[in-house]
Amino acid sequence: MKITFLGHASLQIEVTGKTIIVDPFITANDKANKIDVTRLKADYILITHAHQDHILDVEVIAKNTGAKIIANFEIVNHFEKLGLNGHPMNHGGSWNFDFGRLTMTNAIHTSSFSDGSYGGNPAGFILETKEGNVYIAGDTALTMDMKLIPLQTRLDLAILPIGDNFTMGIDAAIIASDFVACNRILGYHFDTFGYIEIDHKEAIHKFKEKNKELILLNIQESIEV
Ligand code: NI
Ligand code: MN
Repeated sequence: MKITFLGHASLQIEVTGKTIIVDPFITANDKANKIDVTRLKADYILITHAHQDHILDVEVIAKNTGAKIIANFEIVNHFEKLGLNGHPMNHGGSWNFDFGRLTMTNAIHTSSFSDGSYGGNPAGFILETKEGNVYIAGDTALTMDMKLIPLQTRLDLAILPIGDNFTMGIDAAIIASDFVACNRILGYHFDTFGYIEIDHKEAIHKFKEKNKELILLNIQESIEV
């Protein structure tokens, strides 16, 4: 499995021959201006919640690629009204897709569309595949529900928000990595705006002190799981 950071909370996951784009927010992210969204490949678009910084480029990517949108019922409903294809899920539910198995997890956050309309409840996902298991936390606070994840699966990587202010910060993310029983962390949701700027060296050092690896990718940089 190859995971490429597309900036903010946007990811490209290539697994079992399929491409999944997560929470695309690219065209309004100055830091990601080298990415041409019209050239992104996608078989699926995975959405954690309805905030603009997670769904901005869903429509253009879905229209270009025919990708299926996987999200909560309300978000899928919203995009189906625009003529796009979706697969609705809700918390605790799992589904076997052709790339692997997804389980929708709880996230402590909010989830409205940019016009204020209801975007369902925010979520994260557990992705289980033949090429490894990954937790994509979404925008969330530290929550005791994370302790349920190692009862359900063994993770190879946890993707956690670390930018603070709108989500967990570094110190809470370290506790979260204990809760999900995974010491290899990919940080996301940092540096995009002033509210979520972090000190990279300090963040990596704090994880290292707890014998954990925090990976901070440059935009368009990839890791293998
Ligand atoms: Ni959000
Ligand atoms: Mn966000």
